[in-house]
Amino acid sequence: MGTGWLKKRLELEKLMGVDALFRKPGVSAELRKLEEEVRNCTRCRLHEGRTQGVFACGSPHAALMFIGEAPGRDEDAQGIPFVGRAGKLLDQMILAMGLQREEVYITNIIKSRPPNNREPRADEVEACFPYLERQIELIQPQIICTLGRPATNALLSTNRSMGEMRGKWHFYRGIAVLPTYHSAYLLRSPGQKGKAWQDLKKLIVALAEGPPQAPGLF
Ligand code: URA
Repeated sequence: MGTGWLKKRLELEKLMGVDALFRKPGVSAELRKLEEEVRNCTRCRLHEGRTQGVFACGSPHAALMFIGEAPGRDEDAQGIPFVGRAGKLLDQMILAMGLQREEVYITNIIKSRPPNNREPRADEVEACFPYLERQIELIQPQIICTLGRPATNALLSTNRSMGEMRGKWHFYRGIAVLPTYHSAYLLRSPGQKGKAWQDLKKLIVALAEGPPQAPGLF
């Protein structure tokens, strides 16, 4: 199964210069400004213990956006999301979908590393969420894949378990969202990789055929 329309779009984007064709002009400049803000952000106390804010990586014109939880030790040191062991597995998952890391956009719910890699607290998520909102506005992905419960619950404002949420389509401001297991969880529980692959196959189909549409009001 191919990712036909996505490949065509990427080729066309390369040829034509993307901002002019598909995006509001100046998206890349806006993202750079936002990145600068994030790297130096002091909105929550996490900035006291981190090396730097970690913004995102990948294509600013990606159709598919992955949202993880928070930077870990490696990400904090390098300033790039998903570069540690969980990142290597995420790379393999992306490759298994027939895509390259450079073709998708990867970020986190919160941009500063929590101490001892603990889960982000509600006030930290709240302080950081406007950055993610702006990234989504600028990137305008067709599809978002949330990785794990903290990312899923924060984006979709829910408190449900991953068992309930994963593998099903949800919507954030009209954008199709498919939650799946976090790659760090899959490293701890490799027996769940089969379920994650089922989810990734749904993403492949949605990229090839177009994402599901949010239910209308009528
Ligand atoms: N786990 C995450 O959720 N994000 C990262 O960037 C790295 C590990």
